[in-house]
Amino acid sequence: MMQVHRTTAEWLSKRRVLNGPSIGFIPTMGALHRGHASLVERCRAENDIVAVSIFVNPAQFDDPLDLDRYPRTMECDLALLESLGTDHVLVPAASDLYPEGYRFHVDFHDTEELMEQRHRPGFLQGVLTVVMKLLNLVRADRAYFGEKDFQQFRAVDEMAREFFVGTQIVPCPTVRAESGLAESSRNRRLSQQALHKAPWILKALTEAPTPTEARATLEAQGFVVDYVEERWGRRFAAARLEGVRLIDNVAIYASDT
Ligand code: PAJ
Repeated sequence: MMQVHRTTAEWLSKRRVLNGPSIGFIPTMGALHRGHASLVERCRAENDIVAVSIFVNPAQFDDPLDLDRYPRTMECDLALLESLGTDHVLVPAASDLYPEGYRFHVDFHDTEELMEQRHRPGFLQGVLTVVMKLLNLVRADRAYFGEKDFQQFRAVDEMAREFFVGTQIVPCPTVRAESGLAESSRNRRLSQQALHKAPWILKALTEAPTPTEARATLEAQGFVVDYVEERWGRRFAAARLEGVRLIDNVAIYASDT
């Protein structure tokens, strides 16, 4: 039977008696879809105990409207997690995870501000702060992150190593709809017309000869493009359609960064 823990205190008293078997963990913001499900399936296959958190983290939203509009589908999420064989779900309140507000946070500096770091000030700090709290609460052997949010995965992986967290950060491939659009909770906010356009992101990432041409392709299709960039052997894009911000990336063969 899946257990739902609504307070950190309740979870921690459970965690104390879970010594021995391997624990796998997947942090999420809910509104679960096939992308999240693939992480849970992988975690189920590789660990004795599967723990998932659902928490819409206010600290990683720079726009209060975006936070308000973030889809919340708790009943469906819990049913899906149960069907996938999840053992524990953590659903803490914001006042429980941030009892002192945002007084302490994980700061993150790079030699230059890249991609999400440049376009969404405070976003990665907000993610790293909540992930640090969650990793410390769960003390898992492995935690699973999607390559769709590759910059997030990379920052979390580096943070976990640098702070000797002791949890292995495992990257998982991006799950896509048949159209090629990366599954995302935000896709629910797209109109039929936008859903039709959105697969152009993957097309531009994989087919345009250069990032500049990929950007031009997307702009011609009506996207408002934040960036198209290549680094770490991948090509990344972030662009808005009808005000909904979509991100994606693919591995490329040649890279000069
Ligand atoms: P969320 O967007 O709910 O995503 C939770 C995890 O699912 C992340 O690791 C994300 O990369 C992964 N994921 C999302 N869509 C995916 C897809 N199409 N294919 C594969 N994996 C996918 O990312 C967050 O939440 C938050 O920033 C969080 C890490 C929970 C911190 O608040």
